Amino acid sequence: MKQAPISAKLPVMMHGADYNPDQWLNYPEVLKEDIRLMKLAGCNVMAVGIFSWASLEPEEGRFTFEWLDRLLDSFADNGIYAWLATPTGARPNWMSEKYPEVLRVGPNRVRNLHGMRHNHCYNSPIFREKTKIINSKLAQRYAKHPAVIGWHINNEYSGECHCDYCQGAFQEWIRRKYESLDALNEAWWTTFWAHTYSSWSQIESPAPHGEFAVHGHNLDWRRFVSDQHIDFLQFEIEAVRPFNPSLPVTTNMHMIESIDYRKMAKRLDVVSWDAYPTWHDRKDDSELGAYFGFYHDLFRSLLRKPFVLMESTPSMTNWQGVSKLKQPGMHKLSSLQAVAHGSDSIQYFQWRKSRGSSEKFHGAVVDHAGHEHTRVFRDVASLGGTLAELTELVGTTRPAETAILFDWDNRWAIKDAQGPRNSGLHYEETVHAHYKAFWEQGVPADIIGSEDGFEGYKLIVAPMLYLCSEETGRKLQQFVEDGGTLVTTYWSGVVNETDLCHLGGFPGPLRKTLGIWAEEIEALHDHEANSITMLEGNALGLQGSFKAVELCELIHSEGAEALAVYGESFFAGRPALTVNKLGAGRAYHMAARHQDDFLNAFYVGIVRDCGIKRAVDAVLPAGVTAQVRTDGLKDYIFLMNFSGILQEITLDDCSYTDAESGLPIEQQLKLDVHGVRVVCRTRE
Ligand code: GAL
Repeated sequence: MKQAPISAKLPVMMHGADYNPDQWLNYPEVLKEDIRLMKLAGCNVMAVGIFSWASLEPEEGRFTFEWLDRLLDSFADNGIYAWLATPTGARPNWMSEKYPEVLRVGPNRVRNLHGMRHNHCYNSPIFREKTKIINSKLAQRYAKHPAVIGWHINNEYSGECHCDYCQGAFQEWIRRKYESLDALNEAWWTTFWAHTYSSWSQIESPAPHGEFAVHGHNLDWRRFVSDQHIDFLQFEIEAVRPFNPSLPVTTNMHMIESIDYRKMAKRLDVVSWDAYPTWHDRKDDSELGAYFGFYHDLFRSLLRKPFVLMESTPSMTNWQGVSKLKQPGMHKLSSLQAVAHGSDSIQYFQWRKSRGSSEKFHGAVVDHAGHEHTRVFRDVASLGGTLAELTELVGTTRPAETAILFDWDNRWAIKDAQGPRNSGLHYEETVHAHYKAFWEQGVPADIIGSEDGFEGYKLIVAPMLYLCSEETGRKLQQFVEDGGTLVTTYWSGVVNETDLCHLGGFPGPLRKTLGIWAEEIEALHDHEANSITMLEGNALGLQGSFKAVELCELIHSEGAEALAVYGESFFAGRPALTVNKLGAGRAYHMAARHQDDFLNAFYVGIVRDCGIKRAVDAVLPAGVTAQVRTDGLKDYIFLMNFSGILQEITLDDCSYTDAESGLPIEQQLKLDVHGVRVVCRTRE
C-alpha cells in the first residue's frame, strides 16, 4: 500500500525552501552562513534557480554556471539536496530587447513590455529555442549531480497570449478538433447573431472588443490555453529528461483556474503545489482549514499519490491584503495539515528574505537580521525535528471511499453562462461547502474528474455538475447501478461538452439515474430564502426544516422518492430533496442550495448509510478534524484543531500511540488552540 518515496536519494520527509543564492553572490559570507542555518533548521532540500536565467546566461550565448557548481557541490558536502529549477519563469532583459516576439500580447491585442515574470509567449519559436538551450545546458551539467533530486520545471505556469503565433496555433487546434467547419458551427451554435464561420482563418481568440458571447468558443479557448501550458511543460521536460530519465519531474501548481491541472499532472512524476492560507483572519480558522484541506486533497488526487508542498510561508505573506503573522502553533498545524492530506514534503517560499524588490517583506526562514534567534526560525527548526520523526509516513496513502467531482471545464462553463444568478453562482464555494461536511466528520475524500475511474468509491458527490457529457452521464449511471451512491444538486446535467444545452429536459444525461425532471430554476436575492421540510419517516432520518438559498429548482419526480418538500412560495409542497433507487445503488438530488447545518446533517446520514469509514470513531467538535493516512497495516491519524479555542476529544477504544514520541496516548485528549497531534493505531 506504500508508494515509493519521491526521491530514492532522500527517502524521508522533505523540508526546505525556495533558495535564491544568485541574489547574494556579492555577499559570500551569507552563502556560507546559509548552509549552517539550513542544517540548524533541519532542512534537507532547497528549490534552486527558479528565476536565475539572467545569472546563468547574462548575455545571449554566454553561460555562467560557476556559482551554481559551487552551490550544488557545497549542498552535496552538507547533506542538502536540490530541486533544480528550469529558469523559464522569468526571462532576461536582453532577450525581450532583441526579440520582442517573446513578449505576450493581451486579449486587447496590445503587446506587453518587458517586466515582471511569466510574461512570455509559448508559441514564439525564439522563446522555445532559448528555453531548449538553457534547459538542456542545465541538464547536461547537473542531471547526474549527487545533490540534485528532481526537476522543478518553470514556476506556477499561468496567463495567456493572443499574438499572431497563438492565433495560428488556436486555429490549428480548432481545426484538428472539429475537422469540418460544419461540425464547428454546430458545436458552437454559431447561427446565433450571425456568427457562422465560413473559413478557419476567421477564428480568433475571444477579445473584449471582439467576440466573447459564443460560449463554446470561450470554452474551447480556455481548453486551448490550458493545453498550451501543458504543451510547453512537455517541451521543457523533453529538454531535460534525456540527461537522466530517473530524475523525477514536477512543476509547482497554484490555485490557478486557467490550467486543467488534472491533464497537466499526467506529464509529471510528482505533483507539487503552493499554498498561502490567510490564517487568523478570524479567530476560528475552520472555514479556511477545510478550504485548504480540499486543495491538498485535490492536488494529491491528481496522481493519487503523495505530493510536495513546494511553497508555503513560514510567517507572513506580503501580497495579501492584511499580512498576519502565524500565531504560536499555527506553523506546525498548517504544515502537518499538508502532511495529513498526503504531502511528503514541507517547503517554503522563501529561505532568506531578499534585500530589495517586491518580495523583500515576504516571510522567510531567515529574516534580514540574518541569524537563527527569531521566533520564525525556531518554529521552522522545531518542525524540522517533527518531520524527522515521521519518516515512517513517507509513501503512505489516503484510504478515500468518498470522491467529490470537480471538473475544470465545468468550472469554466458554469461561470461563463449568463444566468441564472449573475450576482453569484458560487460554484467553487458550493463544492467546498459539500467537502467541508466530510472534513468536519473526519472522512477522507478524493477530488476527482469525470474522466477518472469511479471504481473503489462508495460515494460520489457531484455538486452543480452543469457541464455533463452523455459519457459522464453513462458512467455515473453505471456507478449507481453497480451499487454506488451518488449525490447531485440543482443546475446539473444542463450542457454538453461544447456548452450546448441538453434537449428533452434537464438534468439531461442524469435524468434516468436521478429519476427526476428539473423543469425550471429560480435564483433568489441575498435577502430572500425558501425552506425545505423533511418528510416524516424519510430514509435518512432527518427532521425539521432547513433554509434554501440562492438557487431553487422546480423538479418533478419521475420515480424518485421525495425526502423533503419546499416550504414557501408557489414551490411549497414540491419535492426539494429526492432519492432514486437504481440497480444496486441510489442517487440523491438536492434541488436547492443549503447551508452548513443541512449539509452536515445530510452527510452524517449518508456516511452512516453507505458504511463509510471515518478517521476516528469519535465525536469531533466543530472546527476539529481528523485526517488519516495508512500503509495498509498501520493508520496515522492527524487530529487538528482549527476552531481557535481549546478542545477535548474522547478517542474510541482502539489503542493509540503518539507518532512522534511512540508513547501511548490518553483516551481523553486535549488539543490546544491551533493544536495538532499525530497518533497511530494498528489496522484491524
Ligand atoms: C508564489 C510564487 C513565488 C513567490 C510566492 C510569494 O506564487 O511562486 O515565486 O512569489 O508566490 O508568496
